[in-house]
Amino acid sequence: MTRIPWWRNAVVYEVYVRSFTDSDGNGEGDLQGIRSRLGHLRDLGVDALWLTPFYTSPLADGGYDVADYRDVDPRFGTLDDFDALVADVHAHGLRLIIDIVPNHSSDRHRWFREALASPPGSAERSRYIFRPGRPGERPGEEDPPNDWPSAFGGPAWTRVDDGEWYLHLYAREQPDFNWRNPEVAQEFEDVLRFWLDRGVDGFRIDVAAGLFKDASFRDLGSNDRRAPNGPIYSRPEVHGVYRRWRQILDEYDGDRMAIGEVWTNGPEDLALYLRPDELHQVFQFDLQLASWSATAFHDVIVAALKAVAPTGAAPTWVLSSHDSIRHVTRYERAGGLPGIGRARARAALLLLLALPGSAYLYQGEELGLPEVTDLPDGARQDPIYERTNGELAGRDGCRVPLPWSGDAEPYGFSPGGVRPWLPMPPDWASLTAEAQASDPSSMLTWYRDALAQRRRLAGVLPEDVEWLDSPGTALFFRRGPLTCALNCGENPVRLPPGTPLLTSAPLYGDLLPGDTAAWLTSSR
Ligand code: BGC
Repeated sequence: MTRIPWWRNAVVYEVYVRSFTDSDGNGEGDLQGIRSRLGHLRDLGVDALWLTPFYTSPLADGGYDVADYRDVDPRFGTLDDFDALVADVHAHGLRLIIDIVPNHSSDRHRWFREALASPPGSAERSRYIFRPGRPGERPGEEDPPNDWPSAFGGPAWTRVDDGEWYLHLYAREQPDFNWRNPEVAQEFEDVLRFWLDRGVDGFRIDVAAGLFKDASFRDLGSNDRRAPNGPIYSRPEVHGVYRRWRQILDEYDGDRMAIGEVWTNGPEDLALYLRPDELHQVFQFDLQLASWSATAFHDVIVAALKAVAPTGAAPTWVLSSHDSIRHVTRYERAGGLPGIGRARARAALLLLLALPGSAYLYQGEELGLPEVTDLPDGARQDPIYERTNGELAGRDGCRVPLPWSGDAEPYGFSPGGVRPWLPMPPDWASLTAEAQASDPSSMLTWYRDALAQRRRLAGVLPEDVEWLDSPGTALFFRRGPLTCALNCGENPVRLPPGTPLLTSAPLYGDLLPGDTAAWLTSSR
């Protein structure tokens, strides 16, 4: 029998480190805080943790602006804390994936400070992307080197004192590396080894498709920036990097893996990253983007399976992350009825966990946390808010610290009396992990039950999805003995054959109510 590597069907839990648990009372989560909560993750039933960046950083973009790739930011702990965390994670039977940010560094990184202190054309500048500007419309004015936009709003170029401009596809505090410089490639290989030697099981590669830009720096014009071989993302040169990284991962024992955050326009491009000598997985965001409709879910699942099929890689599924509006709120807004978001989130979990491949959960979804939409403007920290002059609220609303216990802020997130880095809503007492742990009808219990059943079935489910006939508002599919039924409509539909194992809302006899999902088993 072929051995199945741990990550292939894993349920991975994303820990947004700054908002998970604060052990030392500075209002921000930290590595010791994560250690103290590993029991929660084991009891929840996930297989692995993915930690967002905890490296030395001024946190201009929540840590995705790294000033030192080989150290822990003092706010989050020390390297010793990290080593202790790795040991504890493994002792709990879990795996650890860490985020690696190769597209850009912080503007406080030593290399970027050296670049600024060195003249145009110097070796120091060639680690980043510096270019002269273009004459502006009026005499004496200068425009950026080209029309590329920053993903966070505004142009992707900032001018420095001597007149050159540097590229930043994200905030101005996040200068893009020049991956055509071999020193950059060498540096990241060393960084990977640094963390592999410390025992990490894998990497989540940030902006994985972005490393190489079109060397001619041509204007984007009306081109889609993500189009395969477009000027900005998914240039063919990037694959050489991941082949090299794969060789490094394979030098280590224990099935070390890498998953890329790859935004592309099409499945063919996605599949290129999954060649057997490249990445093990890529994020597939289609389920998260799909509207609440059986047809939409059916179509994205079929497309996602088809995209990975030729590669032999397993698909990946996501409903929420630190970059998007929490799905309880997304579904609530779209459904337009109070409470419908939670009902749909319960149902969506069964869909997510019934699919082959891995599921990536985002911290707090197991508590049914909603997006916090009324943060005071002064508290917002996401650069998107500032770079769009407040037009977009940004991603702080899904990054509010987790409520663990008690009936008022900081709800056990920080030691008593400490104010967390983002304010926590006054009505979260019923959402704490403690309040939900012993409530059979809570979201936490629902997640635990569903994950336990998935784990129980893991060895007997084939990877194929067999679609069953269903009414138009519903979606039925089977994987061996497990049938998943999801009713996205308002009216009840008749269940497919099988014995109900889990249902996200009470059944009416053999009818599945609207906005409800069920798992059924058969001895077929
Ligand atoms: C991360 C974001 C981050 C951006 C720039 C994304 O893919 O998930 O949180 O802001 O990369 O590093």
